[in-house]
Amino acid sequence: MSTPLRIGIAGLGTVGASLANLIHKKQNLLADRCGRALSITAVSARDRTKSRDCDFQQMQWFDDPVDLAKSADIDCFVELIGGEEGPARQSISAALEAGKHVVTANKALLAKHGIELAVMAERAGVLLNFEAAVAGGIPIIKTMRESLTANSVERVYGILNGTCNYILTRMENEGLTFEACLKDAQRLGYAEADPTFDIEGNDTAHKLAILCSLAFGTVIAADEIYVEGITSITYDDISAAKELGYRIKLLGVAQLTDSGVEQRVHPTMVPLESTIAQISGVTNAVAIDADIVGQLIMSGPGAGGDATASAVAGDISDIAKSKPGIQHGPAFGTPTNALQPYRRARMRAHEGGYFVRLSVSDEAGVFASVATRMAEENISLQSIVQHQLTDNSIQPDQQPKPQQIVLITHETTELAIRLALKNIETDGHLNGQAQMIRIEK
Ligand code: HSE
Repeated sequence: MSTPLRIGIAGLGTVGASLANLIHKKQNLLADRCGRALSITAVSARDRTKSRDCDFQQMQWFDDPVDLAKSADIDCFVELIGGEEGPARQSISAALEAGKHVVTANKALLAKHGIELAVMAERAGVLLNFEAAVAGGIPIIKTMRESLTANSVERVYGILNGTCNYILTRMENEGLTFEACLKDAQRLGYAEADPTFDIEGNDTAHKLAILCSLAFGTVIAADEIYVEGITSITYDDISAAKELGYRIKLLGVAQLTDSGVEQRVHPTMVPLESTIAQISGVTNAVAIDADIVGQLIMSGPGAGGDATASAVAGDISDIAKSKPGIQHGPAFGTPTNALQPYRRARMRAHEGGYFVRLSVSDEAGVFASVATRMAEENISLQSIVQHQLTDNSIQPDQQPKPQQIVLITHETTELAIRLALKNIETDGHLNGQAQMIRIEK
């Protein structure tokens, strides 16, 4: 058997501890499969004294992850620090400059600096692996980077944030408040250090930016994503959607259109009977429409220590199996000098169906005026219903009782629906803001 692969891990939080335990527990299996042992020889973390699920005392400690990254005693640097700048970026750059293979789970950093790091990896002739950065335990990066090489992808979309899916699932199933569900997600270790990244859609956007580059062979364009989170979704939206045969999911969608690439993250209505609607709790799912293979959909745990460690361990194993001196495959599936510029499709040109929920006063003519405003923009309605609001913020003595109008449109454009909603608001029949949710086919 060859010499062991010497691994240095920077960041010993939930994922770092799960990874160390996994490598220890599966040492024989990993050695058999990789043809050499995997050995964690050095680590770096802010606090040496913190009690952890795993014993790191036998390993070499580095206070500075950059020193670990450059150490002559490691072959592979694993970055689990997080953050798009600072120690994470500095240490990965240092490792690549020193000719070390790198594994990272850091989607924020890849979304911002992924191409620059891929260039460095190509120059150094080493691997930059990041399976755990998107959809936790689902092997979507490898699938897109390697297995689909002969396909042209038309659309990639999915549930990419376990925290949001967990919140939406529990709100629907148990009628709990958004805040209570978020607290549980944090307690269970699904949420980001700053949970606004999850609920405002940024975490999904980071992952989508990576998938989009892999799908279309374009440079990463994380700043070109239309992003809406789930903070405005209420139980009334969820139950109105269900009545009409839909479920609300936070989706990230990257799609080729005639006017460029659409990248969008927003709450989305998906048909109740669709596969994506069945994905519940912290589970993630990624669907790909491609010309040769057709549609693929993969689902699995999107967050949590073991799921993420499983993906990181797979990346490390690929490095252990790679042959020294052999040029490695490009990190984003296409050599960096062949990646295409990103051409953004305008959101106002987006075409699709829409769900609209309006809280209105119960007065003559309101229903008709809403329908008229839609017709003025040439929007054809698939269904329109009016009934009393269940919202418990409504005072029992409020007269007349507020009603809600819920409608589903046939395919139209973002521009048309926004104009119609603006005019409806100007008419002055609304109590509060209109809710508009896009429907995904
Ligand atoms: N906060 C992320 C999620 C963790 O909820 O999916 C994995 O990226």
